[in-house]
Amino acid sequence: MCYAIPGKIEKIENNLVTVDYFGEKRNAYNELENLFLGDYIYAQGGYVINKISNLEAESILATWKEEFFELQKVDLRLSRIDLEKKGIDKKVSEILDRILENKMVKPDELGYLLAIKNDSDKQLLFKTANFSRSKNFGNSCCVHGIIEISNHCKRNCYYCGISNHNRKIIRYRMDKEEILEAVREAVEVYGFKALVLQSAEDLAYKIEELADIIKEIKKRYPVLIFISFGEIGIEGLRKLYEAGARGLLLRFETSNQKIYEKLHPGYCLDTRLEHLKKAFEIGYLLITGSLIGLPGQTREDLVNDILLAKELNAEMFSFGPFLPSPNTPLENLTAPLPEDIFKILSIARLVDQKKAKILITTAFETLDISARKKGLLSGANSVMLNVTPLKYRQLYSIYPKRAHENEEIDKQINETIYLLRDLGRSPTDLSMG
Ligand code: 5AD
Repeated sequence: MCYAIPGKIEKIENNLVTVDYFGEKRNAYNELENLFLGDYIYAQGGYVINKISNLEAESILATWKEEFFELQKVDLRLSRIDLEKKGIDKKVSEILDRILENKMVKPDELGYLLAIKNDSDKQLLFKTANFSRSKNFGNSCCVHGIIEISNHCKRNCYYCGISNHNRKIIRYRMDKEEILEAVREAVEVYGFKALVLQSAEDLAYKIEELADIIKEIKKRYPVLIFISFGEIGIEGLRKLYEAGARGLLLRFETSNQKIYEKLHPGYCLDTRLEHLKKAFEIGYLLITGSLIGLPGQTREDLVNDILLAKELNAEMFSFGPFLPSPNTPLENLTAPLPEDIFKILSIARLVDQKKAKILITTAFETLDISARKKGLLSGANSVMLNVTPLKYRQLYSIYPKRAHENEEIDKQINETIYLLRDLGRSPTDLSMG
């Protein structure tokens, strides 16, 4: 977003560059022509997004200089594990110590962490995750935008408010011009550097049309594009990568095959996993994860979900609560407790200490108004702002009363910047460390 720091190119080796942010070095892939030593760039997701003039960069850096180090100090202060060990379960503290020393931890020990009930044990878990986040990722926080381009869906997911179970909602589909205009606004007016284009599984978009839209976006705007159009097939993934998409957001929803098949009759978990694996081979950055609180899901399943997301080489984890949605087969179930989600985020942070960023999902913000702040202090380091045009946003009703569904982009951005500053987070891109 506009809350972003330019970096200076210090080294170029083929398509790999080293970027300097006030003395901190990061690596990034470069796909731009004419990039030279000393140039200033914005990076996102480990990719160089665009070059900016030295004059512009130096003036932005001058305003950032003091704040950059100030934010780091705030983050370091907030990420100390300053708890007394009194009253803490010895086994919890021993497992957490072992994790921080990068020693082996068994799945059932992760399950033990997930089962924690006592308040001080929970605090230790959250603080340990936050400490690990700060140690391994620094104070960076990733801010992506998401544009939901269509809510027409051919699928029958039992939990989803825009699946074909729901005959009561108004369906919409943005056309190419509307999508390009939403992207223009997000990039040029609001300064987003990474955008997710999301749609339900809408048969009306042909892959060639989506490829054409992505090519046009890449031609016009400096932005990293993630696609999230469901299972579009391996050939579809290839074509959209060629068109310029570099990320894929696709949750596997649950690692438990039986639950998967029950909630998606006629569909198969293996096919979904194949998409994720092939996408990674093609070169996509992956955002994946699962729904928490599905019927029949056990603690063991949730641990497996985290381990699976890691095994898939996710760049970012997206774990969020299931929220019951009207006119779906699961409408009468109840949502999980917020603390279960905080625990999942913390454990996920500790299972993958070096690679995956952890997203605070909108569903979690809908479940708990303090999810963003508390989540960022429990291991998470990524948020996504909804930049779908307001006239469509309410119609993408995967569950009711979505957080931010009526909020102008300005307001979302201001609140996010305010929160990140409060927590000492800065917007450098740390993807490739
Ligand atoms: N509650 C929470 N998340 C949901 N999704 C779909 N329906 C719901 C719901 N009722 C999530 C799915 C999907 C993503 C786009 O939205 O995990 O992958």
